[in-house]
Amino acid sequence: MNGQTKVITVDEQGNLKAAELEEAGALLRHNKLVAFPTETVYGLGANALEEEAVSKIYEAKGRPSDNPLIMHISRKEWVTDYVKDYPPYVALLMEAFWPGPLTLVFNKKPIVPAAITGGLDTVAIRMPDHALARLIIDKAGVPVAAPSANRSGRPSPTTGRHVVTDLDGRVDMIIDGGPSRVGIESTVLDVTGECPCILRPGEITASMIEAVVGCVAFDTHLKDEKVAPKSPGMKYKHYAPNGELTLLEGEQEAIIKWLQAKLLEDKEQGILSGVIVYEHMMEYFDNIYVLNMGRKGYPEEIAHHLFDNLRLMDEQGIKRIYAPVLDAGELTEAIMNRMLKAAGNRVIKV
Ligand code: TXA
Ligand code: MG
Repeated sequence: MNGQTKVITVDEQGNLKAAELEEAGALLRHNKLVAFPTETVYGLGANALEEEAVSKIYEAKGRPSDNPLIMHISRKEWVTDYVKDYPPYVALLMEAFWPGPLTLVFNKKPIVPAAITGGLDTVAIRMPDHALARLIIDKAGVPVAAPSANRSGRPSPTTGRHVVTDLDGRVDMIIDGGPSRVGIESTVLDVTGECPCILRPGEITASMIEAVVGCVAFDTHLKDEKVAPKSPGMKYKHYAPNGELTLLEGEQEAIIKWLQAKLLEDKEQGILSGVIVYEHMMEYFDNIYVLNMGRKGYPEEIAHHLFDNLRLMDEQGIKRIYAPVLDAGELTEAIMNRMLKAAGNRVIKV
């Protein structure tokens, strides 16, 4: 669509007025597009059972049609309507992590339209841990297909403002529910086999899954980019800011030294550059656009700020962005997965 977008903001308790909630539900039911907050990132929702509605998502985002969407549900019971039998461990996962940032990939029943699965025989389903998101789905009365509510290729949106920037005029309604708690997208887990397999890392980590199921595998693509991913979306350029992001690997002192020289060089060449660094490193860069990555050792803070920081760099017109590679750790693996994509794998050892 190309027209008027209604932007609605939640009240201080995070609620919508009853009439607004009804309107959001009705729009979804009638195959319109509604962007809404979840605990991971904002989603661009449409009726998951109608090809006409789903195709509007691809158009609004500029998304390749072979990249399947996640079906969002508000009640666990809905799952059985859309998926074939699954291994017994799946019930344990739903019990442990739903509602929450875990997307499960099942063998689908024929009722799930091919438009949402990109023609695959599987469907990805998630029950968000966000009360308003579940209320909206409940009001719609149908499962809601929702990719991240960004233009394809851009960093995922973690505030209502991000969604407005990308999709104003392209969707019917945007619900601004404040910043997303997690800040990176859900873990995508294939549960069609004997052992669950992580297709996209996220806040629900491998060891959390293993603790419940007794085993966990990784899609080979996550360790070796040359192998085609099982999750079609993972092959596309992603999360990219307009500026060129470079990641720096090395000791803190070496990184600071390297950066100070590089930033000077950029300045001499008239290139606007900026850094995203740990909170305690910010003081070293007072003549430059510097953003707080979060505290070292607090990956949940880093995840929370990541996409906002990348978008802030764009808003300032920063042409070169520098950030350190994160220390190893399970959640940092999920964050690094996004940072490496955003950087087009540009890493410099200093
Ligand atoms: O946290 C999230 O998951 C957010 C919020 C809105 O829920 N949604 C999100 O959707 O990140 P999207 O479309 O940006 O990413 C969905 C990912 C893509 O990489 C897609 O390829 C993968 O899930 N996916 C969807 N269906 C799949 C399937 N049947 N098999 C394998 N991968 C699938
Ligand atoms: Mg996305």
